[in-house]
Amino acid sequence: MTPTAHRLALFGHPVAHSLSPTIHAAFAAQTAVALSYEAIDADIDGFASALAAFAGAGGTGANVTLPLKHAAAALCATLDPRARRMGVVNTLVLRDGGWHGDNTDGTGLVRDLTERHALDLRGRRTLVIGAGGAAAGVVPALLDAGVGELYIVNRSSERADALVDAIGEPGRVHSRYLADAHALGEFSLVVHATSATRGGMLPPLPMSLLASRATAVDLNYGEAAIPFLAWARAGNALHAIDGLGMLVEQAAESFTLWLGERPQTDPVYAQLRAHAPTLATAD
Ligand code: ATR
Repeated sequence: MTPTAHRLALFGHPVAHSLSPTIHAAFAAQTAVALSYEAIDADIDGFASALAAFAGAGGTGANVTLPLKHAAAALCATLDPRARRMGVVNTLVLRDGGWHGDNTDGTGLVRDLTERHALDLRGRRTLVIGAGGAAAGVVPALLDAGVGELYIVNRSSERADALVDAIGEPGRVHSRYLADAHALGEFSLVVHATSATRGGMLPPLPMSLLASRATAVDLNYGEAAIPFLAWARAGNALHAIDGLGMLVEQAAESFTLWLGERPQTDPVYAQLRAHAPTLATAD
């Protein structure tokens, strides 16, 4: 690293298998920006001190992943409206000696769906499964992209209710228990945003949730996306899309915030997809 290199990092737990360092190294090579991007394992209790140590060592920007997205928002001096709205941050930018928090997940998801997959999201009756940090990061962007009625279903009711309250569109956005999803009719966009499949188990989901020609999206990628995409294909979803494209797009958005330069995502996506052929999308 040269003395003028930008020092960036990903904080989360676990982070060892994250693709983000690979993605940012590829963006750096493409744009000829000198940077380092390391993965730093930190749990909730150790996050504030790890972030302070990183800033003290010259760190100027970071990504934040689970389980730290809410905690990151609390550590910020300023928040972009898209992070403030739901209280979840995935991108930190050092500004005037304090952290500015933003959230690029929702923009990344919508860009992947509308540009890479050329999908029209407008008016789609939408189901989001899960109400944690991942769901909170993408729901506002889906609404801004023009989806129709949106249901958030969750195993426990408190987090789904809190998410719906934070959005403040009671005529359009509703919460339900995951166990009651069978009574909700069918959806043309179904987004899986739980962490359950990181342990290999997809919560029980009735096939009746999938309208004909539905799009099913998992915010997870890699092995954690396999159970939901298998469910979607068994239910004849027209598109079954994992979170790899969203990952690359949110990374590009973060890179742009840090460095003022937008990298091209298609070559990086193609490179990563080539190494994950079994996860190729159905469309
Ligand atoms: P993330 O940042 O990935 O969203 P999170 O904030 O810990 O992580 O949220 C995890 C989500 O997955 C929550 O919606 C959680 O449901 P609860 O709020 O009821 O805990 C959901 N989840 C995790 N394990 C699950 C399981 N086995 N079945 C159903 N939902 C599960």
